[in-house]
Amino acid sequence: MKKVLITAGPTREPIDPVRFLSNRSSGKMGYALAEAARDAGWDVTLVSGPVCLDPLTGVSMVNVTTAAEMYDAVAEHISGMDLVICCAAVADYTPAVVEGQKLKKTGEEMKLTLVRTKDILGSCREVFGFQKTLVGFAAETQDLERYAREKLERKACDWIAANRVDGTSSGFEVDHNEIILFSAAGETIELPRDTKQNVAQRMLDILTNA
Ligand code: C5P
Repeated sequence: MKKVLITAGPTREPIDPVRFLSNRSSGKMGYALAEAARDAGWDVTLVSGPVCLDPLTGVSMVNVTTAAEMYDAVAEHISGMDLVICCAAVADYTPAVVEGQKLKKTGEEMKLTLVRTKDILGSCREVFGFQKTLVGFAAETQDLERYAREKLERKACDWIAANRVDGTSSGFEVDHNEIILFSAAGETIELPRDTKQNVAQRMLDILTNA
């Protein structure tokens, strides 16, 4: 049985015991990919950030909260995978210090120092030594193709699935998506606006027949 690892959802970076930094990822696209892969007979490991979706049955669920935990989970599970799809919206920065107690209001301004998180997708080749099919996502509000192609190369992916997140009819939080797939081999495949389930199924067909 072919094995796929998928990351999905946002991460949460704690500031203090009651606050965190996160983003608007719902996890729906990653979950749709995991379901489509499961239904196509794949052995699926889904590394999920905190989402409001029901856990999937018939899939190995690995629940994480922070970017660092997601990195460790991928590092632990990546060996033996045939396909890795990094769909999660991982925080790029995390607070340098996590306060032990709830921060109190003091002055009119407060400054939060953030430090870079580790790039999970960008570590798959160089750090984890993954050599099979690697797929990333690029959510962009501008210059979609340029940023996607740059990401494809920088992160040594086989495919990048690019989607605009500046509209309200596709992308973050909603049930529909519209994706353009760019391959390292130079292909460009447009998947028109459809439900995330249908987009996921088409995407998987393309990735696996490649
Ligand atoms: O560079 P950017 O974060 O926009 O790239 C997006 C792609 O990289 C997505 O596939 C996302 O899952 C992945 N990523 C990651 N680890 C990070 C940041 C992004 O795997 N720390």
